[in-house]
Amino acid sequence: MNWKFVTLGHSAARYVELNRFFSVAEARLRARKRLPRMMFDFVDGASGDESLSHLNSTALDAIRLMPRVLRDVADRDLSTEIMGLQMGLPFGIAPMGMCALSWPNADRHMARAAASRRVPLCVSTAASAPLETIIEDAEGYAWFQLYADQSGDFVDELIGRAEASDYKVLILTVDVPIPSVRTRDLRNGFTFPLRWGPRQIWDFASHPHWSLASLVHAIGAGMPRPMNYATSSQGTKFVRNASRGRATWDFLKTLRDRWPAKLVVKGVQCPEDAVRINALGADAIYVSNHGGRQLNSAPTSIESLAQIRQAVGNAMPLIFDGGIRSGEHVIKALASGADFAMVGRSALFGLGAGGAGGLSDILDLISTEASAVMGLAGHQKIAEISADNLASAHHDARSQRN
Ligand SMILES: Cc1cc2nc3c(=O)[nH]c(=O)nc-3n(C[C@H](O)[C@H](O)[C@H](O)COP(=O)(O)O)c2cc1C
Repeated sequence: MNWKFVTLGHSAARYVELNRFFSVAEARLRARKRLPRMMFDFVDGASGDESLSHLNSTALDAIRLMPRVLRDVADRDLSTEIMGLQMGLPFGIAPMGMCALSWPNADRHMARAAASRRVPLCVSTAASAPLETIIEDAEGYAWFQLYADQSGDFVDELIGRAEASDYKVLILTVDVPIPSVRTRDLRNGFTFPLRWGPRQIWDFASHPHWSLASLVHAIGAGMPRPMNYATSSQGTKFVRNASRGRATWDFLKTLRDRWPAKLVVKGVQCPEDAVRINALGADAIYVSNHGGRQLNSAPTSIESLAQIRQAVGNAMPLIFDGGIRSGEHVIKALASGADFAMVGRSALFGLGAGGAGGLSDILDLISTEASAVMGLAGHQKIAEISADNLASAHHDARSQRN
């Protein structure tokens, strides 16, 4: 027997074993090891003392689902529909700008992962690949996310480009009128373009896995940068901390008149705002607090979801994100009034932990768990999930009877 070969095989098996993860929490830890601190903190960080970012998930954890028994749930189907569009799963991928900092080519990996699962990838205005390329990779499973950015002409150009590339859904993000204060980014000296100093060089050198992968990619394709800006005919430059304050009620009205397909407004938490957005003719409201990256003292996203559902009634489609770290969280969001969910950092932790394969593993883990939880809650289909699945609904019914 060739012992060298056996030892090599053993080491390879051990490497694969060490690199496997079975939850988003494990993928996050792996990503924390592999990514330069500056990059990990950019993804993982939030505003203020970051309490909201944690509360988003713990509020989801606190929700209890009622198990239902004696039902045949052997065959389950996770496909669903939102705004008349058929989806393979009840969740997609939230818009995340500059996400190629978590792993080279992140946007295109996410686009392919979205296409193969028939779910939307929301393409950020600050994506690291041009919106035209991403919708092609995503085989149409891409929604464009618009920031009403520094220049009106640039915004106009982006809307035109999205329409010309056949985007069927436009998401206007409204919760970044001004930049928030993100302590970790300040501490790490995170700027865009990157400023190179001894601290940054040491950070990169001590995380060779990420740095080498990024270097190889950069040699072929250049440093990651917000490509919708780089390909703009206006020559508009990306300014990370620019105001996105052009998004006003008047802007929304004009956009509704101009955009012919589905229009979603993202970053809504106040029930009164939601009612007004509904009245202005949006096709869906995307309940989100930007993963705790904007107003740290805002309510948790799941709290706002229930309030907004109550305010707008059942007809208005609601999309939800904020703190989703498992399939269980997806089902809880649906039971709390969402029609569709989006995962944010979970996808980037998968990429950071294992590149395209890691992303795929995370999306599969969340799907498998969502399917199991749906079955244990007594359902075969996503459309059957309702507030009746919340354990609290049963307590309330019992106390009303007594
Ligand atoms: C690295 C990063 C970049 C983001 N960039 C954008 C963006 O460009 N546009 C946007 O609407 N939301 C952006 N978001 C917010 C996400 O769309 C989403 O609301 C949030 O990540 C959900 O919370 P979660 O990460 O806890 O799941 C970003 C979030 C992260 C983590």
